Order: sequence, then C-alpha cells, then structure tokens
Amino acid sequence: MEFHACYSLKSHNTFGFDVRTGLFAAVDTADELQALLSDARYHTMPRLVLGGGSNMVFCGDFDGLVIHPRMGGIEKQAEDAEEVYLRAGAGVVWDDFVACAVQHGWGGAENLSFIPGRVGASPVQNIGAYGVEAKAIIHQVECILTGTGERRIFSNAECAFGYRDSVFKHAWKDRAVVTHVVFRLRKRPVLQVHYSPLADELKNYPEHSLPAVRQAIIAIRRRKLPDPAETGNAGSFFKNPVVPKATAERLAAADPQLTLYPVNDASVKLPAGRLIELAGWKGRRVGNVGVHAQQALVLVHYGGGTGNEIMALAAAIRQSVYDRFGVQLEPEVNVIGYH
Ligand code: EPU
Repeated sequence: MEFHACYSLKSHNTFGFDVRTGLFAAVDTADELQALLSDARYHTMPRLVLGGGSNMVFCGDFDGLVIHPRMGGIEKQAEDAEEVYLRAGAGVVWDDFVACAVQHGWGGAENLSFIPGRVGASPVQNIGAYGVEAKAIIHQVECILTGTGERRIFSNAECAFGYRDSVFKHAWKDRAVVTHVVFRLRKRPVLQVHYSPLADELKNYPEHSLPAVRQAIIAIRRRKLPDPAETGNAGSFFKNPVVPKATAERLAAADPQLTLYPVNDASVKLPAGRLIELAGWKGRRVGNVGVHAQQALVLVHYGGGTGNEIMALAAAIRQSVYDRFGVQLEPEVNVIGYH
C-alpha cells in the first residue's frame, strides 16, 4: 500500500485539474483494501474510489480519503469449448485488457478498444462504444463492501446494467469497491461492425478480424477524441439523452443529419453531440476551457483552469440545448465538490 497526506490529484484526473486530497491510499491487493476499510481512523471521513480519473470533474480539494485500487493481473479462470473466463484486477489499464483479449483471439472486448481508464470502472459505468457495452462481456464483479469489509460477488444480473449505469451508481454507491472483474469472451469471435462510423472505417481494411476492428476503432478515436496527455478532457461530458419517440421525430424532421438510435417502441436515444453542435458550441473556447472541435460532446481543459469553469460551461450548454430543443442533457461524468 502507498499512503500520502495532502496529495495532488493532478496526474490522477484526465482533465488535469490541480486539486488535492487530504489522504491518498493506493491499494495493491484485496487484503490491503479490507485492512484500510476496517481501520476506524478513516470511518468518519468522506471516501472516494478513484481509478484512472478519466470520468471525473474535481471542482475543489477533496477533504477525505481517496482510495486508488491498483490490483493487477489478468488470468484465465476457466474455459470451455466456446468461451474463456478472464479475471482482471481493478487496477489493470482497460486498454491493456482489451489488447490482451485481441492478441489471444478472444472476442467481445474489441469494440471497447482505446477507452481510457481502469478495469475497475468498467462495470460501474457500463462503459460502451461502437454498439457494444461492457455488460455484454462482464460475467461477475468481485467487490469488498465498505461497511463490513466482507467480500461479495455480483453476478451480471445483480449489476442491473443500463446505459452508462449500474447498481454501483445506485443501491451500492459508495458501499462496494470493485477489486476484480471476470469477463466472458468468445473463442470464436462474432464481430459487431454495424455502427456506421466503424463500418465506414473498416472499408479501408482488407479483412474483418479482431485486430482490424481494434485498429479501426483506435484510428476513429484518435481522430475524434482529444488525447488527455495533450488536452485535458473526460471523454463524453453528457449522456446521449433518451426522449419520447415523438420528440425525436420532431427534431429529426428539422435536421436530416440527426441520427436516431431506437431504444424501444416508445423511446429514442439522441446524439447529444449533434444537438450541442447545432446550438453553436462546437469548437468554442471560453477562458481556459472549451468544446472540442471534432466532437462537441467532449469538453476540454486547455490548462490553468478549474472544475468550476468546466461546470459553468456545461451549464451554459445545457441551457442553450434546452432552450432550443426542449431536451435536458445530463452529465455522464462524476462531479466532485461542485456547489
Ligand atoms: N455528432 C455530431 N456532432 C458532434 C458529435 C457527434 O453531429 O460534434 C453526431 C455524429 O455525426 C453521429 C452521432 O452524433 O451521427 C454520434 O456521434 P459519435 O459516433 O461520435 O458518438 P456519440 O454518441 O457522440 C457515444 C459515446 C462515446 C463513444 C461513441 C462511439 C456516450 C455519452 N458517448 O458518443 O463514449 O465512444 O458513442 O460509440 O454514449 C464516453 O463515454 O466518454 C465516450 C467517448
């Protein structure tokens, strides 16, 4: 375990905001995490689990204990003729896990290539991209419960996955820390290439294969999304809003370029990036922050700014999208310390 007091989180959040936490504990094993959680000195403090910090907005210092899970390792837990079960530590870099799966020829994770962050966040957020969500490959999630220090395994069904949503954001919020995730991958991959930007990109590749899908996705993401090492950002800032079908059809009639993603018979998911672009925000800079020029759903930090500046920009965007289209955007990122 590594322990620090009054510790800077600048390199632990991809927006690159220079905030501090009272205490910071990087834990390498489930046993260490159990010991930390059962230590009475920290029971009354606010606690925050921080993986890669790629989906966080810190609006000020955190007056509490940040727990940074670093459990490593990817191991084969079981297999049969069709599937392999891979158990990965919460601290494994997400894209290292995807690369490992693709290298071995195991299918299911490839569309989730190049997403920033760590394995531990994948079930919490139910990360998703290019028509696939993590819920499709998560078999079970191993956690330690903060109240009792007890170990508990959540099955896929118990995780209650939704769009960028899970039980870890509701009933078990702040009450369960992910230590490992077991993924179920296919030995005979079934490629998912129906998402149109992916299908278009794959036209440049001679064959469709796991490595080709991975390379195509990396190429699209490099083109559209800013590299946090160069420009601070947290990927999509808002969720794509789910609206009644009639609202979606009204908006699509006014904008032929608005792609609609049907959710069920009554609801449709709208591309928030398109609405933000139509509201005139794409590529706009306000002080130290702004809206990415290639993808309007991504807010960026040019340096020297604060989480409050990002939140002020987000509020202005929400208001203008609401005024213009009557659609409420909800943040996809986790916001800490905003008043
Ligand atoms: N669009 C615009 N203008 C923009 C951005 C998008 O018109 O500035 C339009 C596109 O032309 C397209 C549609 O919106 O018709 C969808 O765009 P894109 O494929 O870029 O995806 P997205 O809906 O904006 C979602 C995820 C991303 C994920 C991509 C690809 C959410 C909140 N975001 O974005 O996830 O990579 O799909 O599957 O669901 C993330 O969560 O951080 C993230 C990057």
